Amino acid sequence: MQSEKNNRELSKAFESCREPSKAIEGHRLPSKTILGIETSCDETAAAVVRGGVEVLATVIKSSAGIHALYGGVVPEVASRCHVEALDPVIREAMSRAGVAWADIDAIAVTHGPGLASSLVVGVSAAKGLSMALGKPLIGVNHMEGHLFSVFLGRPWEVFENAFPLLGLAVSGGHTCWVEMPEPHVYKLVGQTLDDAAGEAFDKAAKLLGLGYPGGPVMEKAAKLAPPGWEAIVFPQGRISEGNRLLGGMDPALCVSFSGLKTALMYRLRERGDDDKNALAAAYQEAIVGALAERCAVGLKRGKWKGLVVGGGVSLNGRLRVALQEVCHKAGVEFYSAEPKYCGDNAAMIAGLAGAGGGVEVGLDVDVMPGLKIKG
Ligand code: KG4
Ligand code: ZN
Repeated sequence: MQSEKNNRELSKAFESCREPSKAIEGHRLPSKTILGIETSCDETAAAVVRGGVEVLATVIKSSAGIHALYGGVVPEVASRCHVEALDPVIREAMSRAGVAWADIDAIAVTHGPGLASSLVVGVSAAKGLSMALGKPLIGVNHMEGHLFSVFLGRPWEVFENAFPLLGLAVSGGHTCWVEMPEPHVYKLVGQTLDDAAGEAFDKAAKLLGLGYPGGPVMEKAAKLAPPGWEAIVFPQGRISEGNRLLGGMDPALCVSFSGLKTALMYRLRERGDDDKNALAAAYQEAIVGALAERCAVGLKRGKWKGLVVGGGVSLNGRLRVALQEVCHKAGVEFYSAEPKYCGDNAAMIAGLAGAGGGVEVGLDVDVMPGLKIKG
């Protein structure tokens, strides 16, 4: 019923749409109701967020189960799943939020980074809605969304008073350290020079035959490791000065995970995988140790009030404990997102836009698969 009502309102909006989108006045004030759309990888997501942090509804439909058959995301399959799922997912979010189309102040959409063929589905839908409703279209950087996700569901004052912050964004495609002196100001200060942390988990799980996605299954296996697993030590991907991939960044804030995967591969070749759980625990510890060490260095490099961790890998319990300890030692606040906002979701996209982030774009906006965190 609700969706029929929404359908009717949407058609009315189509009829009444004569003017191009206008900027929302006072867009930076956190009182707007934003519909967010996220399709950068294999999750089709929509959410309605009011005032930047109040999540009225968040709906996520993942096609990971299909990709698991292939051992990784197949872009064309992901894109076709988005085409099928996006309309019902948006309608479900609107219905659960209990808001009418007329209550939506703007449409926010992930326009990068991500898979081009996946991004284009969400961006096209967002353009259509923006045009139909006569509401502004806001392009949001997916990684900035992950860094914002820690504020969802918290009082607005938490966001307002949290800065300056150091951020760690850890996902399947990215691992980077970002200085955030104030809201929506970012400076990339460190990153992986090759594989992302999530990718490192995914590749290891594949080598160990544990399935996809790798992070959750590796964490589960690590919990079952027998005593003595600490004797297995994997490299923590430290970078030497003068590495030409650094591009001016501090080696102490960068990491390389490709050697870690290779070390596991050689170990498996030489000694077999008689104890997958012990290997998973040691491998997880190498990633967690590497990330925590760079965070500790980053926190010493400036006067930060806190550390923010966002992205799918931030679901990892061992990583959360390690980062909590790093923050405790540094005497700063630790911010992580509620589990439902760690992986890809649209609440972080709508929330960031509602909090004044992202950029207002026109209907000619294109997807930006390689979009960088803005400096
Ligand atoms: O942010 P996300 O959902 O999608 C991207 O933007 O990439 O992150 C997905 C990544 C995958 O590589 C997955 O293996 C990893 O997050 N991940 C985890 C855990 N849950 C998901 N990594 C470690 N431990 C977990 N519990
Ligand atoms: Zn992500």
